[in-house]
Amino acid sequence: MDKVRKLLIAGNWKMNKTVAEALSLAGDLQRELGLVKEVDIVICPPFTALSEVSKLILDSKSIRLGAQDMSQHNFGAYTGDICAGMLKEFSVRYVILGHSERRQFAKESDALINAKTKAALAASLKPIVCVGETLTEREANLTEKVVDTQITGCLAGLTKDQMDEVVIAYEPVWAIGTGKTATSQQAQEVHQFIRKRITALFDDAVAKRVRILYGGSVKPANTRELMSQRDVDGALVGGASLEARSFSDIVKNSI
Ligand code: PGA
Repeated sequence: MDKVRKLLIAGNWKMNKTVAEALSLAGDLQRELGLVKEVDIVICPPFTALSEVSKLILDSKSIRLGAQDMSQHNFGAYTGDICAGMLKEFSVRYVILGHSERRQFAKESDALINAKTKAALAASLKPIVCVGETLTEREANLTEKVVDTQITGCLAGLTKDQMDEVVIAYEPVWAIGTGKTATSQQAQEVHQFIRKRITALFDDAVAKRVRILYGGSVKPANTRELMSQRDVDGALVGGASLEARSFSDIVKNSI
């Protein structure tokens, strides 16, 4: 596909896969996708599998490692948390921040996600910052307002240079894990809006470079159509990333 920005396809494994299962999936992906150069590929296993998966894909030319969250703190008395330095030990390059499941279940606020984003950047990790409206918000015509508040809050205080390391993921909450994908037109509209807001918050050059991924029931069958949209620069894939065949097909259908 002829795109202005290099596409990024990221798999968010969420709370799935034992170490053995993670190794099996990562091994299959390495065999299937090891030679892909046209798109950036990131897999985000649970924390417990990062160490082993990191060793397995150490020499991979195509697949990079991501984490699903991290603390805004660098160390200390934060029981249960994982900091950027710990992720770096396993050659993690990306970290998903502010996923809607963390906003919902762990009550993460834009201010917290902003602090995490800054901590990730300070550690040279690339944050994948997630935004998106709920069904009630969409039906009340609040999509742009909600996404604007999230973007503005999560990216507050970042420099233009830092923005070059940031990836944004638009994930309408009503499309996550529900089988309901936003139409490519709905996705394009919000992606275009986000890019316009990035121009206003930073500048046009930053907005032209920033990658905005779509997430929410992405599967092999809808990948091509979604990726063909002008402002859609990749996908954050949940369910369909848990199986080598479907994730590989999503990657291949985006090329
Ligand atoms: P899904 O999840 O692909 O299963 O809808 C996407 C996500 O939550 O990142």
